[in-house]
Amino acid sequence: MTSYANFYRQSIDQRDNFWATQARLVEWQTPPEQVCDYSNPPFARWFVGGTTNLCHNAVDRHLAERGEQAALIAISTETDTERSYSFRELHAEVQRMAASLLALGVKKGDRVLVYMPMVAEAAFAMLACARIGALHTVVFGGFASGSLASRIDDAEPVVVVSADAGSRGGKAVAYKPLLDEAIRLAQHKPKAVLLVDRGLVPMELEAGRDHLWSALRTQHLDAQVPCEWLPSTHPSYTLYTSGTTGKPKGVQRDTGGYAVALAASMKHIFDARPGQTFFATSDIGWVVGHSYIIYGPLIAGMATIMYEGLPTRPDAGVWWSIVEKYKVTHMFSAPTAVRVLKKQDPSWLTKYDVSTLKALWLAGEPLDEPTAQWISDALQVPIIDNYWQTETGWPILTLTNGIEQQATRFGSPGKAVYGYNVKLIDEVTGQELTEPNQKGVVAIEGPLPPGCMQTVWGDDERFVSTYWSTIPGRQIYSTFDWGIRDADGYYFILGRTDDVINVAGHRLGTREIEESISSHPNIAEVAVVGVADSLKGQVAMAFAVPRDATGLENDAARLKLEGEVMKRVDGQLGAVARPARVFFVTALPKTRSGKLLRRALQAVAERRDPGDLTTMEDPAALQQVRALVGE
Ligand code: PRX
Repeated sequence: MTSYANFYRQSIDQRDNFWATQARLVEWQTPPEQVCDYSNPPFARWFVGGTTNLCHNAVDRHLAERGEQAALIAISTETDTERSYSFRELHAEVQRMAASLLALGVKKGDRVLVYMPMVAEAAFAMLACARIGALHTVVFGGFASGSLASRIDDAEPVVVVSADAGSRGGKAVAYKPLLDEAIRLAQHKPKAVLLVDRGLVPMELEAGRDHLWSALRTQHLDAQVPCEWLPSTHPSYTLYTSGTTGKPKGVQRDTGGYAVALAASMKHIFDARPGQTFFATSDIGWVVGHSYIIYGPLIAGMATIMYEGLPTRPDAGVWWSIVEKYKVTHMFSAPTAVRVLKKQDPSWLTKYDVSTLKALWLAGEPLDEPTAQWISDALQVPIIDNYWQTETGWPILTLTNGIEQQATRFGSPGKAVYGYNVKLIDEVTGQELTEPNQKGVVAIEGPLPPGCMQTVWGDDERFVSTYWSTIPGRQIYSTFDWGIRDADGYYFILGRTDDVINVAGHRLGTREIEESISSHPNIAEVAVVGVADSLKGQVAMAFAVPRDATGLENDAARLKLEGEVMKRVDGQLGAVARPARVFFVTALPKTRSGKLLRRALQAVAERRDPGDLTTMEDPAALQQVRALVGE
């Protein structure tokens, strides 16, 4: 067995050889002619000349050897249902969905927007798109009409796949009215809407546009839709994510590079085998759901669990009962979920047999040491932090235990993963920081490895200007995270360099929330900052200047306005973006030239020292904030 250090060096120094070997982990219709075309940096084209299909690798490929084994296990503690699909059954369902999409007019290269709760049909829809070469654009079910409308306008989907409702904490959450409103708001109008009727809430159908999955499925029960062989560089999907500027970006991913990257990660990072069971507690609306609920485990021939429900309902043992029942080998979650469980009776963790678990991987936000220690003690399995982004699609930093067992260091997601030429860069000089324990921007030297974003959907220029042009004097990919590296190569992530916040592992742009709040007629100006929170990691807090503050000294009036502002965010962006508090102030802290002192505001909101304030226009502005958060 090779050492990880060697494996890593090979991936950087003999890049093409390394990835040519990894490419053998997937099935190609035509093998690639060239491993990496980087003639037009920073645009990397992986496995040029090869043709393949993600759905083939995730489903069809396994039929001969393990057709009757479990592929998809859909569990809902909301509707009290459990349904397991073998690879053969999944194959049939995906073809029914593919035939239905084709019947609704979807063609290769078209976009299909998926706005769905965590039900098996969402997986069918994603895989069906991959099968026919259409791009899926999954929008998280917690987003509301405004967010959905802007994504509809950017992706211009031919068809939307949705459902009557999701469910949370036993209460139905209607999706259809939000979708109708989003389509009304959007300039682009999808030709058709395919709806899964779960019977949770009544649904009004628009004649000519809306179609029921149950009806189309019946029409296509015996459908045989072969996989479309796609060039490796053919886009497989887009997934929107937030950055500093208002409009979310459509992260566009390829086909062949993504298949290879995921297959390699299943082997080297997760040390996974066919027939094992993967349980990622994320949502298909996020990147973890794409890579490690749907594609990664299925490509590896594993069963994957899709879970709709809370970690604490019917009780805090529910996840571990699933681990016991389905003999889960690999579990993937987020630190916030662990912190939620930590507040419950610890006996829930010893009630079930979790001895099948090889490890618990956690990602999406910083994993604090007490949380890691607690879950490690309770479960008695390795806890593996991993750091990555929607943009990269798979881990940048973690332990690559499939190659060599590496020691965990709590507080650190580990070392640079093979394929990623990670550097720490001084943000002012653009120089690489090579000494241990220096703080810099975590950056990746191009080309990004296979599986990472190809570009921003419809906007190559934005891909270059957003990600590759922020470090002075060089073209290098910025993660927008601060980090340090110790003498042994372990990295520590120290938070974002931009205005992105991370609430319970959900990535949100503060500017988007500000735009939504500013649309309230009585808000003149607002600043939203992320404030440290012991449960969610961070929460959003808004500081708003009302146009008319008359009567706002009165508690009830203030609460009413705060409630209105929150409702506006709920309605436009979704409850996931709702600030925890909206404080009303007479002025925001700014420099004399009118620049908002965001870092100072955040520091004071976290009751920290705001640092040097000599450029501040009006010190009273921060004084007000201090008084308000001190309350
Ligand atoms: O700031 C980093 C944080 O989450 C961002 C990426 O979020 P998203 O695009 O939603 O992708 C999540 C994929 C797991 C990063 O820029 N982040 C993610 N993982 C970690 C993390 N921060 C610290 N430790 C992590 N393990």
